[in-house]
Amino acid sequence: MIECRGIIKEFGTPPQRILHDLSFTIGDGEFVSISGRSGSGKSTLLYIISTLDSATQGQVLIDGRDIGTMNIEQVHHFRNKNVGFVFQFHYLLPELTALENVLLPARNLGLIQEKTKMAESFLE
Ligand SMILES: Nc1ncnc2c1ncn2[C@@H]1O[C@H](COP(=O)(O)OP(=O)(O)O)[C@@H](O)[C@H]1O
Ligand SMILES: [Mg+2]
Repeated sequence: MIECRGIIKEFGTPPQRILHDLSFTIGDGEFVSISGRSGSGKSTLLYIISTLDSATQGQVLIDGRDIGTMNIEQVHHFRNKNVGFVFQFHYLLPELTALENVLLPARNLGLIQEKTKMAESFLE
């Protein structure tokens, strides 16, 4: 479950507010799309939910864990294990095969053997 409580995001000086006090919950297995005009803050929200960026104010809880209370190493580990992100402009590593690109997070965790079958089935 992903829970956002009072998310505010500002950029720059003077601060420009992009996300204005967003609160919502996304349940396990729920499939959600976020729509809005270009520049309205969709990517910014996704970066915050996925721990790639942090909110100016507010909390993000994933399975009850408050991301904001984790130190940087815990956040890296959490993201490696729990977050998949397909960027609008993706950067696959050309020297790796498709399978190796998909397995990169598993490689960082030393889980290549365990995850290869799963990666192959996703690619299939
Ligand atoms: N790192 C940043 N620094 C300053 N402004 C930013 C930054 N990232 C996004 N913005 C601004 O925040 C607003 C929302 O951007 P974004 O989340 O990319 O919108 P969307 O994905 O909905 O098109 C835009 O006005 C954008 O210029
Ligand atoms: Mg975007």
